[in-house]
Amino acid sequence: MLVVDFGAQYAQLIARRVREASVYSEIVPHTITAAEVAAKNPSGIVLSGGPSSVYEEGAPAFDSAIFDLGVPTMGICYGFQVMAKALGGEVAKTGAREYGSTDMAVDDLGGGELLAEQPDAQTVWMSHGDSVVKAPEGFEVLARTSSTPVAAFANKERGLYGVQWHPEVKHTQYGQDVIVNFLHRAAGIPADWNPGNVIADQVAAIQAQVGSGRVICGLSGGVDSAVAAALVHKAVGDQLVCVFVDHGLLRQDERRQVEEDYVKSTGVRLVTVDAREQFISALAGVSDPEQKRKIIGREFIRTFEQAQADLIAEAAADGDPIRFLVQGTLYPDVVESGGGSGTANIKSHHNVGGLPEDLQFELVEPLRALFKDEVRAIGRQLGLPDEIVSRQPFPGPGLGIRIVGEVTAERLELLRQADAIVRAELTAAGLDAEIWQCPVVLLADVRSVGVQGDGRTYGHPIVLRPVSSEDAMTADWTRLPYDVLARISNRITNEVSGVNRVVLDVTSKPPGTIEWE
Ligand code: XMP
Repeated sequence: MLVVDFGAQYAQLIARRVREASVYSEIVPHTITAAEVAAKNPSGIVLSGGPSSVYEEGAPAFDSAIFDLGVPTMGICYGFQVMAKALGGEVAKTGAREYGSTDMAVDDLGGGELLAEQPDAQTVWMSHGDSVVKAPEGFEVLARTSSTPVAAFANKERGLYGVQWHPEVKHTQYGQDVIVNFLHRAAGIPADWNPGNVIADQVAAIQAQVGSGRVICGLSGGVDSAVAAALVHKAVGDQLVCVFVDHGLLRQDERRQVEEDYVKSTGVRLVTVDAREQFISALAGVSDPEQKRKIIGREFIRTFEQAQADLIAEAAADGDPIRFLVQGTLYPDVVESGGGSGTANIKSHHNVGGLPEDLQFELVEPLRALFKDEVRAIGRQLGLPDEIVSRQPFPGPGLGIRIVGEVTAERLELLRQADAIVRAELTAAGLDAEIWQCPVVLLADVRSVGVQGDGRTYGHPIVLRPVSSEDAMTADWTRLPYDVLARISNRITNEVSGVNRVVLDVTSKPPGTIEWE
């Protein structure tokens, strides 16, 4: 199933919803041609929304010959309008923009399986300026709102469907039902995909790529690299050596969890490199976030090269160098680093954008097409410890990008203590499932006056950044219970010396990113 990306942040969400309906999906750019689509032989196509108007100069184009391929297709928002215009319907600026929750009336259930078994009146999430005012010839209008006369249409014979609203967002009452109806009823695609299927496919793909070659993998302590390595280990066993770099930017107890728990459950061969000094010296005097990220990415790879050199020397006896490097790159990293569809590069994710050009390895990236929750499902199926599989996302550059200001050993220690308290309290309050992640940030360049006991203090603030998210592309700040916030604040200011204030970040993404740097 292909999701055509017209430049909206919604394309990923659509791809996920399709997978949640047990159908494998991939995002492709809107510049894809009919011949390219035909070569991929998809069972269905969804056209995403987009930020443009179909009449705008430079509006994302689309090869309308794709509508003639006989592949069931559903347009959403901008994709709906593209379909309408290409097939002879009429799209106009009616002057009535619709944003947010909108009441909609379902007109006719006869024309399409799309709205089958749904109530006549429902609330949908709209975000559009232009409207389809006339459906193309041969299309039946399925729904309308007070300002949009054609809110959905269908041409059952041709397998073409469209909706003006966003069925992929949670605010749309029967959104997932529309997606499920399109996939299973309209397009007749069986619900037979699940992340577990990926294991067998990836094991075969890894074996084909790697052959009898040796592979190295950096474990970060996070879910992605842990699952990627476990997959590669399943595929090629002891041809894999894992290297765990303790760059000193880790959270409390992470090294032990990797060295003991992970190794016990997977049986991988692990080498730990203690590079704490090296990273601290490389980061000395650096406050600029992008510079920090670049330095950390660079040092990380250099450390591997050193570890590789050591391991090659060891492997020299049997003359078999290490040629492959495993990376736990996920689909959102690929898209957000501009590798998906020409989306803007917002931050250099260090496992995508920050690799040096003279890298000596061929990359093995078994999770490149997957979303986080799918990676977790695979990890569980592979039998990894829950404390690793269920772990919150933690950025590759670690605590280095959670200290606003220069990174020093003392500041890292302070942040580690605060972070451990926050994690413990959130878990104790049973809030882990509600929170996507909660970065804890030290504002090292800021000090404020406080009072503790009888004395004046002049310490640093700690920022709590709890966020709820589906995929980290967008996020909202999590409304944590006040008593939990109070406990965290009390504990941090009492137990972490040098911190005299705890503040809460109440910014969504956008405009803020999840991490502060
Ligand atoms: P932002 O801050 O861009 O973060 O809203 C989105 C998600 O990505 C994580 N993140 C990273 N992960 N390498 C990673 O592996 C990185 O360089 C990196 N930077 C941010 C962040 O924790 C959040 O989950």
